[in-house]
Amino acid sequence: MALVSLKGLLDKASSGGYAVPAFNVNNLETVQAAFQAAQLERSPVILQATEKAGEYAGFDLLSAMVHKAAESALGGPVPAALHLDHGGSVEVVLKAIRNGFTSVMIDGSHLDFDKNIGLTRRVVEVAHPAGVSVEAELGRLGGIEDEVAGEVQLTDPEAAGRFVKETGVDALAVAIGTSHGAYKFRGEPRLRTDLVKRIKDLVNIPLVLHGASSVEKEIVDMAELYGARLKGAKGIPLESIREAIKNGINKINIDTDLRLAFTASIRKVLTESPEEFDPRKILGPARELMVQTMRNKMKVFGSSGKALP
Ligand code: G3H
Ligand code: 13P
Ligand code: ZN
Repeated sequence: MALVSLKGLLDKASSGGYAVPAFNVNNLETVQAAFQAAQLERSPVILQATEKAGEYAGFDLLSAMVHKAAESALGGPVPAALHLDHGGSVEVVLKAIRNGFTSVMIDGSHLDFDKNIGLTRRVVEVAHPAGVSVEAELGRLGGIEDEVAGEVQLTDPEAAGRFVKETGVDALAVAIGTSHGAYKFRGEPRLRTDLVKRIKDLVNIPLVLHGASSVEKEIVDMAELYGARLKGAKGIPLESIREAIKNGINKINIDTDLRLAFTASIRKVLTESPEEFDPRKILGPARELMVQTMRNKMKVFGSSGKALP
C-alpha cells in the first residue's frame, strides 16, 4: 500500500499501548529487510533516513526504493512511513518533502529552548500543509552517568508540555538516558523510564525513543568471533524498553543493532568462505540476519499483528 504519514501510525500505537519500530536505512538490503520483517510480523513499520544516508545513497533513490517497495507485493498490506531522521534545518526538511518523505524530524535539541521552539514551529508550518508529520526533540541524549558533565540533559516534563503546545508537533523525542551507538553505558545501564510517564501525561502525543538499540550479546559475540573489536559495547536492556513502552513511548529508533547484525553476518561469510566474491552471497545472509533482528524488535515492541485493522 502507499506510504502513510507518521501521525496515523503513532496515534494508533499510543492508544494501543505499543511502539512502532523505526529502522534506519541506507541501502537496498535494509529496505527489503524492513518490509519483509513487517510482512512476516504483520507489523506497521517506519523506514527512516538521516542526512548522511542521503549523502550516501541519495534521498531520491532511497525514497524511490521505499515507495516502490511499499506499493509492491513486498510491502503488501502493512502500513509504512518514510521519515527524515535528525533533520538539521528547514532546507533539509524541504528537500526530504520534495523527495516524497511522508514524515520529518527536526532536531533542534542542541539549541536553547526558545530557538528550538522557533525552528520546530517553522518546520511544522511547512510540513503540515503538505500532509507531512513532524517529530521534534527536547533534551540532549546521553548516559545518565555523563549528566553531571553537563552535556546530557534529561527532558524536563513541564518544558515538554510547553514545547508541544507552542510548536504543534505530532511526536516528541525525549532524553531519558539513552544514547546513539554501541557504547551506551560504562557501568550498569540506568534509564529514567519514570520521566516518560510524566512527560506523556503532560503532552499527550506519541513519544519517541532514540538510541534504543540493545546491542545483543549474541550478535556481538558472533561479530567478535569473526574478528570484530567491540570491547565494552553495551545497549539498552529489553526490560527497560518494555517499561518505556508501558509508560508512553510509541516510536523506537533502531540503527546500531542493524549495523551490528549486517556486519557480523558479512564477517562470518567472508571468514568461512574466503573464496566467495558474489555480493549477493555476501549480502543475502546479512539481509536475513537483519530480518531476524527486526522481527525480534516488533515482538518486543508489541507492534507484531498490529498492521491490520
Ligand atoms: O542517529 C541516527 C543514526 O544512528 C546515525 O546515523 O550515521 O546516518 O547519521 P548516521
Ligand atoms: P541506536 O544507535 O541505538 O540504534 O539509535 C538509533 C537512532 O536513534 C536513530 O535516530
Ligand atoms: Zn536518533
